[in-house]
Amino acid sequence: MKIFVAGAGGFIGQNLIKKLTQSTNHNIVALTRRKINFSAGKNIVGDILKSDKWKEELQSSDVVVNLCGNDIARKWPRSVKIELQNARLKTTEAIVRAMNSKQLLINASAVGYYGYSRDKTFDETSVSGKDYLALLAKDWELKALSAIEKKCRVVIMRLGVVLGNGGAIKNIVGQKFIGGRIGSGKQYFSWIHITDVLHFIKRAIDEDEFYGIYNICSPNPVCYDEFNASLGSILPRITTMKIPNMLLKMSVGEFAETLIQGQKVLPKRLQQLDFEFTFPYLKEALQDVLAKV
Ligand SMILES: NC(=O)c1ccc[n+]([C@@H]2O[C@H](COP(=O)([O-])OP(=O)(O)OC[C@H]3O[C@@H](n4cnc5c(N)ncnc54)[C@H](OP(=O)(O)O)[C@@H]3O)[C@@H](O)[C@H]2O)c1
Repeated sequence: MKIFVAGAGGFIGQNLIKKLTQSTNHNIVALTRRKINFSAGKNIVGDILKSDKWKEELQSSDVVVNLCGNDIARKWPRSVKIELQNARLKTTEAIVRAMNSKQLLINASAVGYYGYSRDKTFDETSVSGKDYLALLAKDWELKALSAIEKKCRVVIMRLGVVLGNGGAIKNIVGQKFIGGRIGSGKQYFSWIHITDVLHFIKRAIDEDEFYGIYNICSPNPVCYDEFNASLGSILPRITTMKIPNMLLKMSVGEFAETLIQGQKVLPKRLQQLDFEFTFPYLKEALQDVLAKV
């Protein structure tokens, strides 16, 4: 099978390329904005929104994995909101426009779709939230789902915070955040180990039964206090001091609300499938990830 991966230079993309090139015989094409050395497969360097030299490779592929995006954990002045939208909505729109019928599209989304809540539990049947990130995720998914009109199979991954060598953990270990009690500490945090994300993508490629929307998060979300305690037992420098909400808002603006209120999301569809999580529990997931950083 020929697999085209957009956003392949990012955290999940690089892990996916490594896994696909090491463990399968598929023909891999990786689209990145900066040249990256891959052990196998083909690297196309280009910006989806600025050139179309990627289109031919995409059109001759059986599978398109769209992982384009950028960092949301920052303030969102108007200029950043445009960047966030371009990296998700415009790229997905361009990809779907270029696709042929009967291809498979596996597209990223986020559990931010549900909005934040201190007391609700969300699964795939829950309605979308009304905050900026929720509306962004909703629009993003609609762009991806429009590939169904081309008779494509579409799989949407509503990702929780992905734990791996990069992404959120890089911010923690790289001292952007050093832990600390956020909000009441009782609000939930929905997470997933990168191994389980890659396992899901592989199954979605191999098994036609996978279609539609899936929450890609562990069946055991934790509250922030528990996350901090697990992290602190592995990384002693993690602080338990309370971070004032005001400080958090000054640092990341509107995004602070997601951290303060939290989100408890369950992967109901994966649980119905008896999907085997390699890392269902946070402590083991963190131990694995931090041993590799
Ligand atoms: N990691 C998580 O915890 C998490 C959680 C929920 C949802 N997600 C979503 O899952 C997707 C993948 O996550 P990630 O952590 O791998 O994100 P990432 O590290 O930010 O990677 C996104 C990649 O998309 C590329 N990209 C953006 N705009 C592009 C364009 N116009 N043309 C070509 N490439 C473009 C970026 O290129 P450059 O490298 O040149 O910037 C980057 O390599 C993202 O959409 C993210 O929002 C991730």
